[in-house]
Amino acid sequence: MTPAGTVPARPRDLEGLTAVVLGAGSIGAGWGIGKAVCLLFARAGAHVVAADRDLASAEETRDLIRREDGSAQAVGVDVADDAGLAACLTAVIAERGGIDILYFNVGIGKAGPSTETSPADWRRISDANLTALHLAAMTVVPSMRARHRGVILATASIAGLRDVGYPHLAYGATKAAVIQYLRLLAVENAPYGIRANTIVPGLIDTPRIEKTVAGAYAGDLERMKALRASQCPLGRMGNAFDVAEAALFLASDRAAYVTGTELLIDGGLAATARGPSLG
Ligand SMILES: NC(=O)c1ccc[n+]([C@@H]2O[C@H](COP(=O)([O-])OP(=O)(O)OC[C@H]3O[C@@H](n4cnc5c(N)ncnc54)[C@H](O)[C@@H]3O)[C@@H](O)[C@H]2O)c1
Repeated sequence: MTPAGTVPARPRDLEGLTAVVLGAGSIGAGWGIGKAVCLLFARAGAHVVAADRDLASAEETRDLIRREDGSAQAVGVDVADDAGLAACLTAVIAERGGIDILYFNVGIGKAGPSTETSPADWRRISDANLTALHLAAMTVVPSMRARHRGVILATASIAGLRDVGYPHLAYGATKAAVIQYLRLLAVENAPYGIRANTIVPGLIDTPRIEKTVAGAYAGDLERMKALRASQCPLGRMGNAFDVAEAALFLASDRAAYVTGTELLIDGGLAATARGPSLG
């Protein structure tokens, strides 16, 4: 048993590397996926650039890392701002001599009937979830190619593979595109020493679900959490660190022969035949 507050010894698989995490905060108090990814990357020895639209949230992530004597900086950037995103990544490349790991963790959506998703909603969601991924990848790929190394990862979602029990069309469609985007990016860039993979979380217990999913359960958080847990063969929702452990593996040389694929972190949910039900 690890005494509370101590950090168990871990392999320093990312020693000396620079990792940029876009969407490094969380939209509520507690552990979001980006925050946990940043912490595990830093514990593995990486210098982490924690970037988020919400600068205070990115700073919280940075401070959590520094409190453990890890190396991190915080940046405020809205990935939907093309020029701002490119400038942020270009600055890191210039300052650090390159980016070894780009982790794209931003994901927004609009739950509810698809007829209520306007073209403006669609563009907003695709811009943040997909167009920004392309822009970020295209900004880092040239220098990764020049150094003949680099890892690009993104967080997709089980909603990109199947129905999740309530309508979430633009979110699911863009997350499906994220998976295929990184597969094709991986193939195109494999000859240049770049690996690209997607992490596909299932139903994860992060602060976000109380804000973005609870509406589908009429705001009944307890019922939402119990139903989400009961849908997973392992009998619980995942947590941010379940996902971050997979990110750490894929970011490291332990995954040197893994590219163009996706890793499901879903407690077995995708293997079930019956769609999750709110009833
Ligand atoms: N929680 C789940 O059940 C779950 C399941 C599957 C996939 N995911 C995906 O995992 C990722 C992280 O989810 P989370 O649950 O930790 O939620 P989260 O919403 O708390 O984390 C996303 C972070 O991205 C930031 N962000 C949003 N829009 C941005 C923008 N335009 N520019 C820069 N930053 C922006 C937010 O401020 C937040 O800090 C998302 O991509 C989400 O779609 C979550």
